[in-house]
Amino acid sequence: MESNHNHGLLSPSPLQPVVQFEIFTLFPDVFEPYLDSSILQRARQGGFMDVKCHNIRDWAPDRHHVTDDEPYGGGGGMVLKPEPVFAAVESIFGSSPNDPVILLTPQGRLFTQKVAEELMDRMLASPAGNQSGGSFNRVGFICGRYEGVDERIRSNLANDEISIGDYVLTGGELAAMVIIDALTRLIPGVLGDPGAAGDDSHAAGLLEYPHYTRPGVYRGWSVPEVLLSGDHARIEKWRREQALLRTRRRRPDLLEGANLSEEDIKFLSDLDANERS
Ligand code: 6GU
Repeated sequence: MESNHNHGLLSPSPLQPVVQFEIFTLFPDVFEPYLDSSILQRARQGGFMDVKCHNIRDWAPDRHHVTDDEPYGGGGGMVLKPEPVFAAVESIFGSSPNDPVILLTPQGRLFTQKVAEELMDRMLASPAGNQSGGSFNRVGFICGRYEGVDERIRSNLANDEISIGDYVLTGGELAAMVIIDALTRLIPGVLGDPGAAGDDSHAAGLLEYPHYTRPGVYRGWSVPEVLLSGDHARIEKWRREQALLRTRRRRPDLLEGANLSEEDIKFLSDLDANERS
């Protein structure tokens, strides 16, 4: 839930490390329109994070700026050459980066809210570099294209590999954007309400409860009475139960890893018992 009622510009404290995303891509133009909208734009303008795109093609050593070549051993398709990618990444991170340099590939580990939280914790905890105006932590994203990237990029340049799901995209650009979006909203202060990120679907290991706003009746569909009751204890209970019901029905796999109270467990086992009877 993006519950940001403060539409003014926020700013980080002077001690807050700024997160700097460095994207290595053959298609740098696709990033700006999305980054220039909504919360990401505010986070960027407010100095919480910044994104820099580096065109891999600019680092190709030859006159024609060639970035791909045929695979050794034959077979179809083209492979992203190592030289321009190493040159581009090392120009920013040097030759043995402490920061995450993530290769985006369908073969990577699966991106989840937990991975997002781990990456953000690591950045907020690690000693930040210094730049005029404050400290920063960097994350690099190498966006694969063509039928694949030269294996030496994977084994000797990137130190992490991430996939955003079990399907194949034409390149890593959308995946980089997904990860940047998920990480940015975890930077303290980016969402106006400090509790906002913690309430989300997945943050607690459960899907979120249903939301309603005015009008109270729309096309004959009413808002559940409990939400109008003003009874906060009842509302909390209802929301928790809705989250449990929804998760049980749609994503029962998530209940395994969820943080459940005695009361939650009782609610779920009563449901199971009712279904069996
Ligand atoms: Cl990170 N890249 C590509 N090309 N396809 C994907 C992906 C990444 N994650 C899921 N599918």
